[in-house]
Amino acid sequence: MNNDLINALLGVWAAIRAEHQLFWTYHWRSKGAPYYGDHLLWQRLYEARVPEIDRMAEVIMAIGGPSAVDPMRSWVAVSDIINRSEKLGSTDATRGVALVADTLNRIDAANEMLAGAANTLAINNVLAGFADKHLEALYLLRQRAAQ
Ligand SMILES: [Fe+2]
Repeated sequence: MNNDLINALLGVWAAIRAEHQLFWTYHWRSKGAPYYGDHLLWQRLYEARVPEIDRMAEVIMAIGGPSAVDPMRSWVAVSDIINRSEKLGSTDATRGVALVADTLNRIDAANEMLAGAANTLAINNVLAGFADKHLEALYLLRQRAAQ
């Protein structure tokens, strides 16, 4: 078992779960003139995280077994990210940009640990899919944050 790889994947999982919780919260607290567009943007972004959360957990289970997806340990990691999130920007859009950029860094870091690991191609494919969707989210949020 490759503990460094599993920990890196757990870090990706925590970041995506934190995005899901926070984007859903930003969806609820959208307000002002751009309220409805923001409300729908955040919904698009939090809904896109659900299949990623599920897929990442299945990959971690496949290579690390059930102990790797301990619910309390994983939720503490999510909580740490949520606790820091308010300081990441002055608006929900700028906080969203920072969260997505951090997740992309975690995805890249996990991907760099795949050399020599089992199932490299499959895990790389899963991470590449996440990176693709996160680059889309980064584009959407940067456009919104620039207003
Ligand atoms: Fe809603």
